[in-house]
Amino acid sequence: MSAVAVPNSVGRAPGKVILLGEHAVVHGGWALALPWPAVEVTASVSEVAGDTQVVSDVPGMDLAGLTAAARAVCATGYRVSLRSTVPPGSGLGSSASTALAVVRAMAQASGATVDEQALADVAERHAHGRPSGLDVATVAASGLILFKRGEAVRPVASAVPAFVVADSGVPRNAGEAIAAVNAGLAQHQALVDALGQAALAGVTALEAGDLPLLGRLLDQAHERLTILGVGHPALDVLVAAARAAGALGAKLTGAGRGGCVVALAADPVSARAIALALLAAGAARAWTAEGPA
Ligand code: PMV
Repeated sequence: MSAVAVPNSVGRAPGKVILLGEHAVVHGGWALALPWPAVEVTASVSEVAGDTQVVSDVPGMDLAGLTAAARAVCATGYRVSLRSTVPPGSGLGSSASTALAVVRAMAQASGATVDEQALADVAERHAHGRPSGLDVATVAASGLILFKRGEAVRPVASAVPAFVVADSGVPRNAGEAIAAVNAGLAQHQALVDALGQAALAGVTALEAGDLPLLGRLLDQAHERLTILGVGHPALDVLVAAARAAGALGAKLTGAGRGGCVVALAADPVSARAIALALLAAGAARAWTAEGPA
């Protein structure tokens, strides 16, 4: 059965932050991640004659995958226009949230009943080759999730502490970072396994309300990811600045070698101070859960 078609529909999807387990999740480990609505993609649909098309003024966006996903919902009759506040190439899930926003808008506009995540994955595979699926699962989630490739997504019901995200402004290349981890896997398998196990430990810390423990897990993950070859001096500067400003822990988030850091704050007031310290330390942008700092 199909739903009612709503012309001129708008689809939205948030960004995402990986708290623990990036790279491990590519190799079968766990990851803990959170949708990040401080940034979002909006997809607006209008009816047009001819083939369904996707347009965007964001430079470098992979429109081929998005168009394939939009046409999988309805091949003709729609034009999808994109607006985004998710910085591309920063590890905040811009391609996954764009894909999900497009599919949501198209499903609403055409009244089709679709598997939103499966179709967003179509676009993700165009953009990334063989992603773990973590990004799409996270931007589609309503809160914290524990994710492992091939398993059902596990929502984590505990309260979400105050996190801060800051963009180093150094573009990250996920493909290169994933290749670097692959190249060192024989030597570093134990480290990769430990990164995945930390996601489970993170859930235990969250459930116990033990923020200092969660902070230590973030710090440790940053060291391990750096040993794996996906660190960057600009990320180290931001991680150090966050800790100096009172963060309970901080790490790179996403594929690394650029992109963003995530820091854990004791409370929202401290989060704001950490966000300002990150901007002062050279971050291109910073956000608390409430929005841009
Ligand atoms: O694309 P990013 O920077 O959000 O990184 C995704 C996380 C990885 O684990 C590195 C890749 C994946 O497919 O899960």
